[in-house]
Amino acid sequence: MKDIVLLKGDGIGPEIVDATKRVLAAAGAELRCHEFDVGATAYEKTGETLPKETVEAIKKYKVALKGPVTTPIGKGFRSVNVELRLAFDLYANLRPAYSFGGVSPYKNVDIVTVRENTEDLYIGEEKEINGGYEAIKRITEKATDRIIRFAFDYAKSRNRKKVTCVHKANILKKTDGLFLERFRFIAAEYPEIAADDKIVDNMCMQLVSYPEKYDVLVAPNLYGDIISDLIAGLVGGLGLVAGANLGKEVAVFEAVHGSAPDIAGKGIANPTALLQAAVMMLEHIGDGKTAEKIKKAVEKTLVEGKVLTSDLGGNATTEKFTDEIIKNLR
Ligand code: NAI
Repeated sequence: MKDIVLLKGDGIGPEIVDATKRVLAAAGAELRCHEFDVGATAYEKTGETLPKETVEAIKKYKVALKGPVTTPIGKGFRSVNVELRLAFDLYANLRPAYSFGGVSPYKNVDIVTVRENTEDLYIGEEKEINGGYEAIKRITEKATDRIIRFAFDYAKSRNRKKVTCVHKANILKKTDGLFLERFRFIAAEYPEIAADDKIVDNMCMQLVSYPEKYDVLVAPNLYGDIISDLIAGLVGGLGLVAGANLGKEVAVFEAVHGSAPDIAGKGIANPTALLQAAVMMLEHIGDGKTAEKIKKAVEKTLVEGKVLTSDLGGNATTEKFTDEIIKNLR
């Protein structure tokens, strides 16, 4: 039995976490789940979005599966996701996305985005200036080197062929310039893996025109956030793609989507992204067998396309869709 922390989160979080728990149990995953609050739900109960007990539990068990959380836009508390990443130095955000037969508008996508998770504009240092505000974009050699090495090591371990650096070094000559310079320097240590780079605007065009040309992408925080959502769109939407936030000691697995307040409580959310996060988590803790079982069942359900949630053009509820995945487990 492996202990993990389960964070239900807000909005559709509890619905997709419950669906994921059902699939994990049906697949025979040997997990002892410790449930804690996080996000707006935790805030209502305790006045904190990331309560101390939640932090202590993650510190103790080292692995968490997290539902999405609500973050107020333009005001209010800081993003819990950003807090978690900083609290546990979860420096690498790994977002694999690949096509699932008929439900994916693009059939030939198999791309892993490696996003730097601790700096760039996400440090949240904004200040008032005469006539407006300015924000600090921080790029350091230390954080850049470790994310670029992470991307190449990941590519090597998964037998991937190419790593592409995404940047805007033509305009941001110092910050993105450093990111690109370190990429080129470190790429030379991995002669067996091809390396190239693209300016972020061109990268977006390339991804919608020739996604099959791309393999592993490495990017500073903001570009990584944006391009990984774009890639999620290529394979069928946010409801399908997961992400892992990885540090030296702690790993937090989640869906890339948010709390979807527009459909919360309706029982129609697609649990696939969180299930994919659970698959990544099982691989991380060394239970590749159960991970593969769930992965295959999800793929079969999506490729067959008989029972799909409404974001994928079907009319199944979260419960019916989950039943179908459980039926497809073997
Ligand atoms: P969102 O990802 O929650 O929703 C965007 C659209 O996709 C909505 O129409 C929603 O219904 C749909 N959608 C998302 N997940 C779905 C699923 N599993 N099944 C079916 N449809 C799904 O993004 P939005 O609306 O911009 O943000 C809502 C809240 O989520 C905000 O407070 C935001 O800060 C937060 N957020 C949290 C994240 C996290 O916890 N990792 C990531 C992104 C946003």
